[in-house]
Amino acid sequence: MVFFKLADFIESLDLLVIQAPMAGVSTPELAAAVSNAGALGSISVGAMTVEEARASIEKTQSLTKKPFNVNVFCHQQLACNAAVSASWLNALAPLFAQLKAKPPETLHEIYTSFNDNWAMLELLLKKRPAIVSFHFGLPPQPIINALKEAGIGLIATATNLAEARQIEQAGLDGIVAQGIEAGGHRGIFNSDDADSELSTSVLTRILAIELRLPIIAAGGIMDGAGIKAALLSGAKAVQLGTAFVACPESAANANYKTALTSEKAYQTQLMTSISGRPARGFPNALTQWVDSLREYCIPPYPFTYDAAKALQSAARANNSADFDVQWAGQGAPFIRALPAEALIQLLKSELQS
Ligand SMILES: Cc1cc2nc3c(=O)[nH]c(=O)nc-3n(C[C@H](O)[C@H](O)[C@H](O)COP(=O)(O)O)c2cc1C
Repeated sequence: MVFFKLADFIESLDLLVIQAPMAGVSTPELAAAVSNAGALGSISVGAMTVEEARASIEKTQSLTKKPFNVNVFCHQQLACNAAVSASWLNALAPLFAQLKAKPPETLHEIYTSFNDNWAMLELLLKKRPAIVSFHFGLPPQPIINALKEAGIGLIATATNLAEARQIEQAGLDGIVAQGIEAGGHRGIFNSDDADSELSTSVLTRILAIELRLPIIAAGGIMDGAGIKAALLSGAKAVQLGTAFVACPESAANANYKTALTSEKAYQTQLMTSISGRPARGFPNALTQWVDSLREYCIPPYPFTYDAAKALQSAARANNSADFDVQWAGQGAPFIRALPAEALIQLLKSELQS
């Protein structure tokens, strides 16, 4: 049986960059352009049905013969009781009223965790992408073993040393060290645990010293200087998300791309009220409303996201972007809105200079 060697694979890349998987933003076109340009592209199927995931993987395979990464969400599935759901919808009722929209009757669990999604596992075992990455924790060990035995390289996000140790003990091939600067959701395993809030540089250094697996630094890295700093801290590669959101190949809409290149880029915040888990992005009318409430109880992930998406759709129906969900990291002010291949070439030249 041939096991995947992440360190060798990373060394074979022209540029030690992984384009982060970004649910709703990364596309087969983006991932393929990045992989074709000599880095590693990623798609996220965490928020997709199995059929959507199949189409996304097949499309990426049709656009590149190079390896790419497929990302899944491994959150613990938490129940949301009817009282919590009703109280949250009640707290948001004035927002729905303002948009002249009917709030949902209850909140739904809008995605299944990969931990319980046998059909998604079967798809990955059949399609065998070079790499699969896990966010929000790890799936059960038999699932990890099945993917490894299929020759798939496995990486997972850690936000602290304890999570990184679990990743190493589970036999994965690499660790994405996600600092507090990162755009999108914090990959914290247990959302009830206190967040250690480590910066990318400190977390990368800790993990590089304490562990043997290759460390991939993620969070706030936007250019060659950022990549160099991460490599000096002990990272073997870096993962960039926000840097790719303004690429023409990303699925981000025009308002989102404009926000990234405006003054707003300086104002990212960590917010839990959009999805039920902490995530960094631009505050919107929902988060501002929740900040003004005196008492509230946020439902678990991803139930909370159901309400945020309902508000986003209702606002869009009124031609308003006030409730749009726009994730971005602290490095957003340094974004370069270039086609993915041009961005990879620029990063390469900055790294060599
Ligand atoms: C728009 C957006 C969506 C994201 N979605 C995912 C995702 O689906 N899966 C995942 O593992 N990470 C996701 N992330 C987090 C990235 O993997 C990575 O940790 C982060 O982008 C690094 O920080 P940076 O944005 O400052 O580069 C997302 C990040 C952004 C900006």
